[in-house]
Amino acid sequence: MNLDQVKVLYNEQEVKARIDQMGEVITRDYRGEELLVIGILKGAFMFMSDLIRRIEVPLQIDFMDVSSYGSSTVSSGEVRIMKDLDYSIEGKNILIVEDIVDTGLTLNYICEILWKRNPKTIKIACLLDKPSRRRTNTVPDYIGYSVADEFIVGYGLDYAEYYREYPAICILEPSVYEK
Ligand code: IMP
Ligand code: MG
Repeated sequence: MNLDQVKVLYNEQEVKARIDQMGEVITRDYRGEELLVIGILKGAFMFMSDLIRRIEVPLQIDFMDVSSYGSSTVSSGEVRIMKDLDYSIEGKNILIVEDIVDTGLTLNYICEILWKRNPKTIKIACLLDKPSRRRTNTVPDYIGYSVADEFIVGYGLDYAEYYREYPAICILEPSVYEK
């Protein structure tokens, strides 16, 4: 880890403990039901792999990859499906797993598409929430941490595809992207 460029916000142990708690709550909420957990690539891959190991109801997983037009730090609102789900979601309990909800535009679009496919329920679990930047009325059902308007990397989140492998949730030094 190049620690000059980042400031640790939540370390590995803290993140693990928080995800244990989220898994317990999700397990309780879906007791007696089955789940289809949908990870939004690529940012959610690490969070999803840890979270599903803490969920104790029968579940299946699938992935979706979407890309928003525009530069890497600003969401444009236009979203394109790069990889769609492999299976039908009709009649299923869907839990969308996302790394961070910023403007909310990406999730809004994903939910709109998925509701048309007649699932039984859709809920959202995000590792991070940046409510100050919201431009939609998206409210995640499960939130790891609420963060201020800073650029976050690590634990799956990237800046220009770097930093995803960092085990901690970190704030990226503005000097890195304000060049
Ligand atoms: P939204 O459509 O504005 O909610 O954008 C959500 C997507 O933008 C996330 O899934 C991330 O891929 C990306 N994103 C937003 N904020 C950050 C951040 O602080 N760090 C890394 N990626 C971010
Ligand atoms: Mg993402």
